Formats: sequence, structure tokens, C-alpha cells
Amino acid sequence: MSETFFVTTALPYANGPFHIGHIMEYIQADIWVRFQRLQGHRVHFVGADDAHGAPIMLKAEAEGVTPQELVQRIAAGRPRYLEGFHIGFDHWHSTDSPENVALSQDIYRRLKAAGLIYARPVEQFYDPLKGMFLADRYIKGECPKCHSKDQYGDACEVCSSVYSPTELIEPYSTLTGAKPVLKTSDHFFFRLSDPRCVAFLHEWLEYPGHVQPQVANKAREWLSGEGDRALSDWDISRDAPYFGIAIPDAPGKYFYVWLDAPVGYLASLKNYFDSGKARANGELRGFEEFLTAADTRQVHFIGKDIIYFHTLFWPAMLKFAGAPYKVPDNVHVHGFITVSGEKMSKSRGTGISPLRYLEIGMNPEWLRYYIAAKLNANVVDIDFNPDDFVARVNSDLIGKYVNIASRAANFITRHFEGVIEYGPALEALTQEARWVAGQVRESYESREFGLAMRQTMTFADRINQEFDARQPWVAAKDPGRRAELQDTCARALYGFKVLSVLLTPVLPEVSGRVARELFGLERPLRWDDLLEPPSRVNPYQHLMTRVDPKQLDALLEPAETQTDTAKTAEPAKAPKASPAPGAAAAAKAGPASQAEAVPATIAIDDFKKVDLRVARIAAAEHVAGADKLLKLTLDLGHETRTVFAGIKAAYDPQTLVGRLTVMVANLAPRKMKFGLSEGMVLAASGEAGGPYLLSPDSGATPGMRIS
Ligand code: MSP
Ligand code: ZN
Repeated sequence: MSETFFVTTALPYANGPFHIGHIMEYIQADIWVRFQRLQGHRVHFVGADDAHGAPIMLKAEAEGVTPQELVQRIAAGRPRYLEGFHIGFDHWHSTDSPENVALSQDIYRRLKAAGLIYARPVEQFYDPLKGMFLADRYIKGECPKCHSKDQYGDACEVCSSVYSPTELIEPYSTLTGAKPVLKTSDHFFFRLSDPRCVAFLHEWLEYPGHVQPQVANKAREWLSGEGDRALSDWDISRDAPYFGIAIPDAPGKYFYVWLDAPVGYLASLKNYFDSGKARANGELRGFEEFLTAADTRQVHFIGKDIIYFHTLFWPAMLKFAGAPYKVPDNVHVHGFITVSGEKMSKSRGTGISPLRYLEIGMNPEWLRYYIAAKLNANVVDIDFNPDDFVARVNSDLIGKYVNIASRAANFITRHFEGVIEYGPALEALTQEARWVAGQVRESYESREFGLAMRQTMTFADRINQEFDARQPWVAAKDPGRRAELQDTCARALYGFKVLSVLLTPVLPEVSGRVARELFGLERPLRWDDLLEPPSRVNPYQHLMTRVDPKQLDALLEPAETQTDTAKTAEPAKAPKASPAPGAAAAAKAGPASQAEAVPATIAIDDFKKVDLRVARIAAAEHVAGADKLLKLTLDLGHETRTVFAGIKAAYDPQTLVGRLTVMVANLAPRKMKFGLSEGMVLAASGEAGGPYLLSPDSGATPGMRIS
């Protein structure tokens, strides 16, 4: 039966550009979507920016723009990434939209009518200077257990104890430094603990395929928690000032961002329908009819950190709001991507920049393949490892896949003017293709992409081995073996066509070129094409290059020596008068155009996050193979650190030994080709040259804190 899918990925917060974690999620979903289409299913794949919440409001304020302007600027940067990695969303919208206001308020009213909403007073810290209630992350103070200073309002990073912000000793607001006061205000709650909700959620989680078994277990733990881990009702309101959607009949109250965020899936879908795009994609029903239809499958791809919202609140909200809302059919949860085993950190800027990947000319389909090869249906983290990336892509995509085409097509072009003819054993090969395709199809369907890639490559090995064993280059020299030569190459090219079909969800661009350029088809490859041995081939044109390990060096170069591409694309410093179009222009103009712009202000607390220390350069040396880097050993008094610094052009290592400088001591370590870099030294540079290393005045000693 042909099904119709409504597929989403988590809506990214609109306070920054995409990072590699987002791209990984989109690649996973996009492969699955393309696979479903290849099976003849209709899919509507939509995304949106998650625009609301206090962090975006405060960030916009710090930059002197409206939250709408901030969101718009970020949104303007999205297509570069999505197009760049061939991620084919049918539509992209925003949670800050009229559709979302209407849908969120509608769902809320229905939940209220169902008796699942109630209000009760909540006493909370309030910043009297800012005139704003403070979420835990905006409150710091001394840990009540171990007395470490500057700990967040919910947990201590030093002793890991968990507490409520009111237990902090000498609490302060990280926004203004003011001492917060307790203040009471009415909040609205969603009665998640209602027996109807609990019963429904157990049933929903039980249903095979709704969520992966490990996800269901996790959710059931939350549902059945006891004592102080008992399921609590959900606080869905926030007091003004808040960037969000107004709660009906409750002046000054807004929906907590996580209430309207998932509704944003539906808002984007609605806008897609109302704009006529759904119709253009062959969907003739209206939004509501489509949403409720029995053959519509609602599928969400999300990361493991947001399971709670998607397996408890979201299905419950939809269920008790009633038709036309429908509970999700699948919530597919993935793990996190790490880079060289390191957790990616948005704030510290580690990880790899997707934009830089594209800008240095790396092929997006390499990354799509690499991620596919590593993914399976479980909630597992995957690692981007540079050496592994080079090896995997070069050996599989070049060595096993495209090489078949170049080798076989060249013979057919040279000796047979492009005409493919087969010997008697073709039928067995067709059977084999059918069998392999059946396996691969099941793997894609169940999101076992790694398995699908292994099955595909096993078939590629088979085709290559047969080709090599038949030594067509020998037959090519013997006019008496023409038929054999033609059959050998024909079989290899048929094998290549099969492989191209199987890889279509992962390599849409290459697959399109194979169809058009190599086999002269006027349409993209279809799944059934794998049962159609080709009868002609055009001269081979280069399909894909090998990864050059140098590109990985460039990709992983330390941030200090990079043009910060993410910032260039979406300058954090756009002046007030410059909304999205200006940002796009700045992106094109490159880093120079905004190099001297003065950044937006930050709170003292932001500055305090940076642990600056006096360091003595104990040793400095050249690094074999590095053009820009020196390896520094830094003495911090009680410990030493190795740092790779991009200062080779300006300093002779010998002259550095013994001098004092300033380092960022709490930068996440970064694995580089030459070793682990455990921090960063500070240097000035500008039109007058540089870098010039910083030095403290005399008297400073290694390890001193700079503030
Ligand atoms: N705005 C919320 C989601 C609302 S959905 C109604 C949010 N945004 S996010 O930008 O922080 O994350 C978006 C998605 O990226 C989430 O699914 C999250 O799990 C995923 N990832 C964030 N970091 C990731 C990795 N390092 N690796 C893989 N995915 C990661 O949460
Ligand atoms: Zn503590």
C-alpha cells in the first residue's frame, strides 16, 4: 500500500547557525525521506526555526535588534547549509508565525476544555533590576553543599549535587548581577499526571514502532517514577517579558517555548498547505483532511536530548486536543555526533563547521555517505574521525563504486561505441540484484543505514571481483574475445547501475548524474531500474574525486587560524538597521567587510566563563608538516599544557621560550592532526600585522588568573 508521510526533524533554535549535529540529523532524515520516495511513497518533509524563548529574547536584546530580526537573520543563513548538503526539505517555516499562534492557542483551549490545564501560584526568583523572572540558568551563587562559587541555579558543576536555586548561598542574577528576590506569580500547568494521560502514554509507548524499545523504556521510567522522581505536571507558562505566544485570556502570560515548539511542526505543515506547495507536490487534500487521514504517517526525527518532550508531552497534547490532531506514528531518536571522540560544544565552538566543510570544497556526498555508514536504528552516538573518514570514503565510494563505472565504460566506449550486450548468464545477475536490493530495502526502511551501506558494498566487491577475475584488459587485446570483453563490461555496468539505485538516497547528486550522463535517462533513477540492465552507456565523465587528507587538516585547523565561517555567514554583530538581506550580503562580502565591527555587549558573567591565565612558555617547537603552527608547552604553575598556536609566521620558537603570555585555560581540548591542543594563547592582529602575543606586566607568575 502506498502511504503518505509527514516527516519532520527537530526545530533548531534560531539563535545560531547550524552545527554538525543539526546536519547529521537532517542527513539521516533526508536519506530516509529519499528512500521512501524511491519506494513510490509520497512524502512531505518540513522543518522550521524554533524562534521563541528567553535565550533568543536576551540575545536579540544584547545585539540591539528585535527577536524577530534576529530570527530572520538566522533563517536567511539556513538555505546555504541545506542546499549545500542536498537536504531536501519541502518547506521551512518558523514557530513565530500566525499559523503557530492559532494552532498553539487552539490546542491549549482544547486541553483546557478537557480539564487538563490548571493554574497555581509559583514562587520563583525574580531579578528586580531587569524586572524578569529568572530561569535556573540565569541564577548563580555558592553551592550549598561544597561551597564552590559561581554555580548555576540547578546543579553544581564541581560536586554534581542538585538543588533548587533558592538553596544557593548569595545568589545573583547573571543578567544584571542583582540579588534576586522571591516573588509569586500564577503559572499554568498541563496535568501530565492525570490518570488518563498516564494510561494513554503507556499504551502509546507500548505500540510497536512508535518509538525504539530503549526509548520506550526511558519514557516508561519517567512515567512510573516514584517519590521525588514521580511524574510532575508540566509548567507551560512564562511571565512577561517573554518572546512567545500569548496565552488566551491570561494577560502577561506566554506559552513556555516547549509548548509551541512542536506545534511548529504542524504550523509549518499548514503554511506549506496554505501556500499551495503541498498541492504542487501532488497532495490534493486540505491540511486538516491530510493530517487526520488514516494513511498519513506522522514521523519525527529527533536527538536523544529531547526524548522527554517528544514521547510524553507531545503525544499527550495531541491526543487530548483531539481531531484533527493525531498522535505521532513514529518518533525516531538518534544519538549525538562527536568529532574525534570529543563532545561538540556550541559555546566553545569545537566540532567541525559544516559551512567550512562546504567552503573548502569538500564534497557533501562524502559526509552523507560517511554518516549513513555509521548510523543504525539505535540511539547510539557516532564519531566523526578524520582518518576513518578519508579511508572509508576513498575505499568505498571511489575504490569500490565509481571505479567500476570508469573502468567498464571506457572499454565499452572505445571498443563498442557505447553499445552494451550481455552474454547468457544475465538472468542470474538480475536475480542477484533483486535479492541484494531486497536486503538493502529492508535496512533502509528500518533505518539500519550502516547495514544498508555494508550490503551495498558487499555487492560492489562482488562486481569488482568478477571484473578483475575476467581480466578484460587482456581480452581487449584479443580480437577473438570481443564478445567476452563486451559481456564482462556489460555486467560491470549493470552492477554499477544497481549500486547507483541502491545509493540514490545517500548520493542523490551522483545518482542523478549517473542516470543522465552515463545512461542517458531523462529522469532520476527509480528503484525498479535495478531490474533493467542498461543497453547503452555514454563516455564516462568524472563522477567523484578522492578525499585529500589535506582537506581534513583544513577542516580541523584550530579556530584561531580559521576565517570563522559560521560568523561570516550570520554575523553576530549585524547592526540594528541590517535585517536578513544585509546579513546575506555580508556573508558574500566575506570576513573583511565586518572584521572591525565591534561586537555586541556581553554580560560580565559571559566574560567570567573564560578562564584566562598567565602561562610561561616552557618549550616551543616547529611541527613537522604544519605551515602555520608552533607547538607550545605552557607552564601554568601547577600543570603544563600543550597548545598548537597559529603563530609560526611571526615567531621563531627559540625566542619564545621562557616568556610569559596569556592563555585560555578552559577551552575544550581539541584533537588535531598533530596531537591534542589543550587551550589557546592570546595574540593581537589587525591591519598592522600580527599576530602579536600578549604579555603580562612584570610580577605576574604562571597560573595567575586574569580578570
Ligand atoms: N529547539 C529544540 C527542538 C524543538 S523540536 C519541537 C532544540 N533545538 S536544538 O537546536 O538544540 O537541537 C536540534 C536538534 O539537533 C535536536 O534533535 C538535537 O538532539 C540535535 N542535536 C544537537 N546536538 C547534536 C549532536 N551533537 N549530534 C546530533 N544531534 C544533535 O533542541
Ligand atoms: Zn558543589
